[in-house]
Amino acid sequence: MQFPIHGANFTTLYQRFDIAQPETVYDLSENVNHLGPPKAVVDSWLSLIQEIKTYPHPDGEPLKSLLVKKHHLALDQLLLGNGAAELLTFFALRFKGKRVLLIHPTFSEYKMTLEAAGALIEEIKMTEIQNYELPLEQIKQAMQNAACLYLCNPNNPTGAIINRAILEDIIDHGKTVGCEVLVDEAFMDWTDESNSVIDITKEMKHVTVLRSMTKMYGIAGLRLGYIIGNPQLIKEMKSKLPHWNVNALAIKVGEICLQDTQFHNKSIQFIKNMKQDIQDYLENKECIVMDSAANFLCFQLKEPNKTRDFYFYCLERGVVLRHTENYSGMDGKWLRIAIKGNEAMNYFKNVMDEWNG
Ligand SMILES: Cc1ncc(COP(=O)(O)O)c(C=O)c1O
Repeated sequence: MQFPIHGANFTTLYQRFDIAQPETVYDLSENVNHLGPPKAVVDSWLSLIQEIKTYPHPDGEPLKSLLVKKHHLALDQLLLGNGAAELLTFFALRFKGKRVLLIHPTFSEYKMTLEAAGALIEEIKMTEIQNYELPLEQIKQAMQNAACLYLCNPNNPTGAIINRAILEDIIDHGKTVGCEVLVDEAFMDWTDESNSVIDITKEMKHVTVLRSMTKMYGIAGLRLGYIIGNPQLIKEMKSKLPHWNVNALAIKVGEICLQDTQFHNKSIQFIKNMKQDIQDYLENKECIVMDSAANFLCFQLKEPNKTRDFYFYCLERGVVLRHTENYSGMDGKWLRIAIKGNEAMNYFKNVMDEWNG
């Protein structure tokens, strides 16, 4: 059975599994903020048409300057991308024939972009998935022969946050042994910025941070992300990217989103409450639920060997969960659920109640 490698695009999923798509589908397989895009974007929509008449600014100004200001960086430390996914592809190109370390389970795009770039991937499988205890000594040892270590913080699909002291220890070790560290902070918007290592990129040339704007602001279809690193790396990546890689609409919408701090705070509070509610509900149903700093939860059924049956049961009733068949170490025995609005979450609860009989 061929499971898709990403969440989202549920029509393709129904077609692939030859399941009749219900009239109403709640897509809980993708982690985009259901409150988004912000009202300020919706209200400006008609005037945004002006943006598509001319070529966009090649560096994505004025958005780039706003981001630089937000993160207290120098202008030559940041590069915008057509989604964080584009930047992952171009970052990986630097590792052709070189060893890169991945810690599983984690976001599947790392492996795919590195494979496409011809990197030599070394994979460390975590045994303590539930508590997200990184096998520190094993990682440090492997870093000695690696060009780069990829970390996802908070991690997708577990939602776990890496303790700042551990992260700093890994980063320091990277400096000693000459191993770069990429920290993908695509979901950092959902938690405390103090967990971010953007500040470290200023002193440590081997540290790069990836950020996405698509999740918090509900603009996954528009595509917008950025990467923060040392000026040499930024220059090198920029020289390989297509000119005008970020479109004018995305630049303008990004600018509006960034200025709407109220939307950001409201979203965090909303998700926090909803997440707690679903976590309580699942634990009540005797599921194991991982602590998550992001806008999704990973859970395991009381009877993990019934996970596939439950996944398809939900699919047939219009609830699309994210399977974990392609997450090494999870092997389909966990499910990831995005936190959305009341209607979707209540519907999911009804389906699960029905399943439990
Ligand atoms: C951990 C992680 N990094 C990066 C991305 C890519 O984000 P974007 O939509 O900005 O391309 C995703 C998308 O799901 C993700 O989960």
